Amino acid sequence: MIKLLYNPAQILTLNTKGKNFKRGAEMNDVNLLTGHSILIKDNLIKEIIPNSETDKVSADEIIDLTDKVVFPGLVECHTHLVFAGSRANEFKMKVTGSTYEDIAKSGGGIVSTMNAVRNSSYEELLELSRRRIIDFIKQGITTLEIKSGYGLNFESEIKLLNVINQLKKEFPIDIIPTFLGAHTFPPEFISDRQGYVKLLIDKLIPFIAENNLSASCDGFCEATAFTPNEIEGIFSAAQNHQMRVKLHSEQFNAIGGLQSAMKFNPLSVDHLEVLKYEDIHHFTNSETVAVLLPGVSYFLNYQFAPARELIDKNSIVALATDFNPGSSHIQNISLIMNLAALKMKMTFEEIISAYTINSAKALNISEQTGSIEPGKFADFAIFDTNDYSDIIYSVGTNLCSMVIKKGNTIYKKPMETYENY
Ligand code: NIG
Ligand code: FE
Repeated sequence: MIKLLYNPAQILTLNTKGKNFKRGAEMNDVNLLTGHSILIKDNLIKEIIPNSETDKVSADEIIDLTDKVVFPGLVECHTHLVFAGSRANEFKMKVTGSTYEDIAKSGGGIVSTMNAVRNSSYEELLELSRRRIIDFIKQGITTLEIKSGYGLNFESEIKLLNVINQLKKEFPIDIIPTFLGAHTFPPEFISDRQGYVKLLIDKLIPFIAENNLSASCDGFCEATAFTPNEIEGIFSAAQNHQMRVKLHSEQFNAIGGLQSAMKFNPLSVDHLEVLKYEDIHHFTNSETVAVLLPGVSYFLNYQFAPARELIDKNSIVALATDFNPGSSHIQNISLIMNLAALKMKMTFEEIISAYTINSAKALNISEQTGSIEPGKFADFAIFDTNDYSDIIYSVGTNLCSMVIKKGNTIYKKPMETYENY
């Protein structure tokens, strides 16, 4: 089956010349093409051709994209999308002065979502999650990472991973499960930290690896969560089971998480709001992606990660929502992009690199997706504008009008007319 994406106003190919990531100054080059069309063969990108050559092509389907902008399908590389309950009450407390850490210490925070998840059935969690995934797809997301981490015992962590794997079967986008058993200590193990670490190492990680429930292991290294030492024990076990690792680190305190993670060649280290200037070199020329989450800083009214310094020091930087009920109850990609521009001083082009090829790299899938290059999956986000700047400029507005995943149109925005109102 040959399809032709005909005559878009702009194509941002993000061409990496086979490198499959963009580092430092390369992030500024999105490879903008005009006067071109894209040929798709089955599920893959075949070729990008000048419009003048399209009459030689015999396509089974022509999709006219006149006056639209084509991006690689967006890659959302850090979410906690499968959760139950609401933490609106905590958000209200934050507005009147409590901090995220105060709330966590008083038994709220992650533990309150843990209780809601433990009390929810597999079916209930599925149903809550489906709506959220559709919301992401409508914004151009064609690859979505989802973490466990709100079960915090054997049964509930496996329930979460089973939900994520079921969603992966149901939806046409790629859904990538990450095991985050090391999110925080559940109340029953508060005075037996070693006991919980042992449960992760001896039971959960082997079971997850044997049953292919997740290929990567995440953790939270923080004063209120895991120590660097505990993280290293957990990551060793994960690596012994051929899992790749990634870490939530330097969110509130720099306690050595970054240094511990780096011993394990992590796919990414995420958050980095309090990353010290002298620690930036860990990302310079490294294959580890710095995943920045400006929605968290906004939602917690907190400082932003040093994106400019990371990029200027030749790092691979990605962006994500961190969508979760506590620290970033935000699913809006346009808002995240706008925050990255205004609050972290990233250029529009760097932001687009960060939400496509570099976020794919953070998930270890950038050889298959994240840029418009022949041989990659035909994954596209198509926007209803003729200038890509509008996507970041139009804060909070969803300009995505069509989503193509592996060659199939999986979403098309319904035509809105005044008569509908
Ligand atoms: O990425 N930092 C730790 N974990 C999540 C928050 C989870 C929650 O508050 O429910 C995060 O910010
Ligand atoms: Fe997170």
